[in-house]
Amino acid sequence: MHRAEIGVIGGSGFYSFLDNVTEVQVDTPYGAPSDSLFLGDIAGRKVAFLPRHGRDHHLPPHRINYRANLWALRSVGVRQVLGPCAVGGLRAEYGPGTLLVPDQLVDRTKSRTQTFFDGVPRPDGAVPDVVHMTFADPYCPAGRRVAVKAARSRDWEPVDGGTLVVIEGPRFSTRAESLWHAAQGWSVVGMTGHPEAVLARELELCYTSLTLVTDLDAGAEAGEGVSHEEVLRVFASNVDRLRTVLFDTVAELPVNGERHCPCAGALGGAKTGIELP
Ligand code: ADE
Repeated sequence: MHRAEIGVIGGSGFYSFLDNVTEVQVDTPYGAPSDSLFLGDIAGRKVAFLPRHGRDHHLPPHRINYRANLWALRSVGVRQVLGPCAVGGLRAEYGPGTLLVPDQLVDRTKSRTQTFFDGVPRPDGAVPDVVHMTFADPYCPAGRRVAVKAARSRDWEPVDGGTLVVIEGPRFSTRAESLWHAAQGWSVVGMTGHPEAVLARELELCYTSLTLVTDLDAGAEAGEGVSHEEVLRVFASNVDRLRTVLFDTVAELPVNGERHCPCAGALGGAKTGIELP
């Protein structure tokens, strides 16, 4: 059996993570995930890597099957997920190369299925109940602590906390939208952080977002606005140190049987109508 305890969902510019991997195709009641899972070892921990947009980046943010991705990870044993992603900075001081580990999230997406508990019968006949998940603090406090410490110990001082606003995409924000996001006090803007975090919570997975600023968003700079090329270029120039921080984080995460955070019992034993894998 192919098993893993920690999942890493890589974003734009992050299509491979480990060298010696076993590729495993996983199907789910929600359809296929973005790609195969790539299973390997880091510091004796079993890790499953999943490229969020597919290894050839064929999936735009709004077409990603987030439910299948989280379900697939859980079905191989994953209970803790790290979600690195590229974001735009909404403040001049959060320039390219900033690592921000958010503690809050604002959802401005429009078209995405954001729950497993939608009352809609699944192809396998299971009928999910309605569940209203507590989500005041969307990220795992333990995972955040470990990630922040890992970055610090590599001399990459992260911004510890802040709000990630997730837009629908695939276009970038207008200048007016961006100025509005910044005026709300939000920190960074991305396209994939939602519904990944809430779906992880619904499956009682710990989820930690590590956002890498690749650009200043339109409202925070005076230039032409963001381009995808810029995002990929800046991500590429930071990917090695991000990988190092992720490795260190993986090594220090609690073992799955010893999670002392609210994520592990998020469903509180509620009747859900579906059996978690
Ligand atoms: N991903 C990277 N940069 C971004 C930006 N400025 N807006 C939304 N998503 C992004």
